[in-house]
Amino acid sequence: MNQPAYKPCSFSLTDGSRVQISQIGLTDQQDWLDGFELLSRESRYFRFFSSMPVMPDHIRVSLLTTDVNRMALGARLLDSNDQIANQRIIGVARYFRAEDELDAAEPAVAVVDQLHRLGLGHLLVRELGKFAFQHGVTRFVARALPENGKVRQMIVGSGGVLVRREEDSLVYAIDLLNGSERYRYRPPRKPH
Ligand SMILES: CC(C)(COP(=O)(O)OP(=O)(O)OC[C@H]1O[C@@H](n2cnc3c(N)ncnc32)[C@H](O)[C@@H]1OP(=O)(O)O)[C@@H](O)C(=O)NCCC(=O)NCCS
Repeated sequence: MNQPAYKPCSFSLTDGSRVQISQIGLTDQQDWLDGFELLSRESRYFRFFSSMPVMPDHIRVSLLTTDVNRMALGARLLDSNDQIANQRIIGVARYFRAEDELDAAEPAVAVVDQLHRLGLGHLLVRELGKFAFQHGVTRFVARALPENGKVRQMIVGSGGVLVRREEDSLVYAIDLLNGSERYRYRPPRKPH
């Protein structure tokens, strides 16, 4: 069964730049790879839990295959006319849920380094969370490397609670059921 579609939406980042968020899939492979090339070594490590100098084909295909249990949203920059400025995908958020636990899903997010701290990561996860909730997911179970302070802060700021420590990662639960407020639009922060 195919995943129901997410309607593309446009948003402003805190520096005023505009982005469009849309559902992405296998037809977006080149645009996605163009964005992957702009992730620093550290961001790749934090996202994939491995240095990932080159993206293996099978992982790329797996990350971009969507169905009822796998969803991926991608962001593209818009120009001053609110048209897609560049096909490159500058941020991605996706989730996966196991067939035996359909109310929980594991999210992952990455934003190209040059656009960090402009609100895009939060925006992607918020949109993903809203979509997930509409499709029966009531909680995200998120994994973070202990040294990834940025995403840990982001998770805790979204109401995430540390539920366990695994060998190499920390596992947080984020309640989407009571968290709809948290996933509602927040006004952009002032640029700093
Ligand atoms: C984590 C990541 C997605 C955040 O994206 P972003 O667009 O920079 O995030 P935002 O600007 O929306 O900030 C969201 C929150 O993240 C946290 N955060 C982001 N950058 C931070 C930093 N440099 N220091 C501390 N907290 C930070 C904050 O809580 C922030 O909320 P606030 O600004 O209201 O305090 C980005 O750093 C990234 O792509 N990292 C590499 C991949 C990764 O770590 N993925 C997570 C594991 S799957």
